[in-house]
This record gives sequence, C-alpha cells and structure tokens, in this order.
Amino acid sequence: GLPARVRIHEVGARDGLQNEKATVPTEVKAEFVHRLADAGLTTIEATSFVHPKWVPQLADAEALFPRVAELRSAGSPVALPVLVPNERGLDRALALGARRVAVFASATESFAKANLNRTVDEALAMFDPVVGRAKAEGVHVRGYLSMCFGDPWEGPVPIPQVTKVCRALLDMGCDELSLGDTIGVATPGHVGALLTALDAPVEKLGVHFHDTYGQALANTLAALRHGVTTVDASAGGLGGCPYAKSATGNLATEDLVWMLRGLGIDTGVDLGRLVATSAWMAAHLGRPSPSRTVRALSHQ
Ligand code: HMG
Ligand code: MG
Repeated sequence: GLPARVRIHEVGARDGLQNEKATVPTEVKAEFVHRLADAGLTTIEATSFVHPKWVPQLADAEALFPRVAELRSAGSPVALPVLVPNERGLDRALALGARRVAVFASATESFAKANLNRTVDEALAMFDPVVGRAKAEGVHVRGYLSMCFGDPWEGPVPIPQVTKVCRALLDMGCDELSLGDTIGVATPGHVGALLTALDAPVEKLGVHFHDTYGQALANTLAALRHGVTTVDASAGGLGGCPYAKSATGNLATEDLVWMLRGLGIDTGVDLGRLVATSAWMAAHLGRPSPSRTVRALSHQ
C-alpha cells in the first residue's frame, strides 16, 4: 500500500542554492523561504552553518536565518532545519535560536574527504558531540547519509557499507535519517534493496533523490511502497552538490506534488503557489526551471 500523507522536506534554499554559480542576495533567499511557507511547505531547510570558504553561496547564514525565523515568531508552525557539520556550526545555529539541525555523513571515504575533509569515521567522531549537545538542548537532529547508491569516484556503493553508517548515526541519537542519492544514479530496485536491508524504524527514514538520470520519481514511489513518508525535494528542481561533480538538482518539489496528488496522497502544498515561486526564482537565476511540472504549469 501507499501512505495517506507525505511530509516534504524542502531543500531548495539549501541544497538548491548552495550549488548556484551566482550568489543569490540574502533578501531574495528570505523571500524564497517565505513564499515556500506560503505555498504550504512545513519543513524548509533554510541554510548551512558550514565554513564560508567551502560553500560561499551560504556564507550569509547569520543574516538570513533571523529573517526566516520571523515566520515562526509570526506563529507559523514551519520547521526550519539547518546544516551543521561540527560544533562550531552548532554554536552558530544555536546562537540564532535554531531548533532543528542536520549533520551530514557519507557512506564512502572519497566523498567524506571531498565534502568534510575527514575519513568516514573521523566525520562520525566530529558529529558525535554535535548530536549529543543538540539532543541535550531538545533540538531535533536529522542525519544525512550521502552516496547511499553510487559514488562518482568509487562507483556502486555496497549496501552493507551504507547500513553500517546508518546504524552509527541512529546509535548516536539522530531523530531521523535522510538517505541520499547524491549523484542521482539509483534505480527503484536498488532503493527497495537498501530499504529492505536497513534495520531501522521506517518512520525515521527519509529519502533524498537527485534527478540526474530522471529516476527520482520512480525511486520515490519505490520508497513509498516500503512505508517511507518523508521525501526531500527542492522547489523548481534547484540544486546539486558543489563537492560531487556529477550531481544535478534534487527531485523537483512540483514534480513530487504532481505525482502525490495524482495518487491521492496529501502534502498540504498549494501547487499553483509553489510553481509561481519557482518561476519567480528561475527569473532571478536567469534560466528556466528544470522541473517538467514547473514548465508545464507556467509560462516561462
Ligand atoms: P576543515 O578545513 O577541515 O576545518 O573543514 P577545520 O575543522 O580544520 O577548521 C578550519 C577553520 O575553519 C577554523 O578556523 C575553524 O574555526 C573554521 P581557523 O581556526 O583556522 O580560523 N570552521 C568554521 N567556520 C565557520 N563555520 C563552521 C566552521 N568549521 C570550522 N562550521 C568543515 C571542515 C567540515 C568545516 C568543512 O569541510 C565544511 O564546511 N564542509 C561543508 C561542505 C558542505 O556544506 N557541503 C554541502 C552539504 S552536503 C550535501 O549537499 C549532500 C546532501 O544534500 C545529501 C546528498 O545529496 O547526499 C546533504
Ligand atoms: Mg543533496
């Protein structure tokens, strides 16, 4: 069977914008997040508290976060998770009142090195005090796991290598995991095999598909059939990862909402408002949205 409801974890403002060549003004990012909330998204990943030299596009996190947190002070129940790679990132996020953070591990050594300048185990050791301190403060922690299917340097990633790091993140105390197909090479059979092999409560699992090979929706459907109800997506299909060359944008939120609506699965998202937001952002970025649904429903 399929779930009655899916929670979309919107990553356009973070995973999307971190990979843009042009730096988007803080003002525009803030309006983007406000418009996403207006469109009915309830979990909007706002930015990352990483080293500004590693991800210059998100170097304005201190200026941006208070602007998006206005949503919550105005009474919106929207959750605004932010990425934190280490204690320095956690300090920055907590100082601004963040209540949800995400650490980001890798199933492969190559990507751990490229993305975090650490081995897989060193990265886990770096996250351990982050998760411990966040939990002690009542802050919700998501654990991302990148390269769950394939890696640009190492090729296909063996399932036991993935389940091992998942286990470490759960044992550390992560409230949820997001299984990342960072470079978009997964196919539905592989998704099913990984979910079957994982020894984790399905309520704690989310999926994070990039759409490089056009498989993101098919992979999502495979995950829903396994009981997953948290799906990451980026408005307009923005995105990629600056430290993984072959990564393109995430599954577009509009494409996801179109499919779920057709399946009678509730998301609470107003598709018209969302498409208008992505068309507006595409105009700012100076190129059309890669989302098929945005193109079909707008006049860009
Ligand atoms: P490092 O160079 O090893 O850092 O980078 P370090 O720990 O040696 O520290 C060096 C200096 O950086 C120090 O300053 C620190 O204070 C400073 P100094 O003492 O030399 O003046 N520093 C910081 N400054 C601000 N904020 C911080 C911070 N940390 C240290 N948080 C580090 C290690 C983890 C910091 C670096 O590699 C980094 O920032 N990486 C982030 C990469 C990133 O954001 N990648 C994209 C997100 S992951 C992704 O997109 C995948 C995902 O979407 C899922 C999927 O698709 O698979 C999530
Ligand atoms: Mg990603």
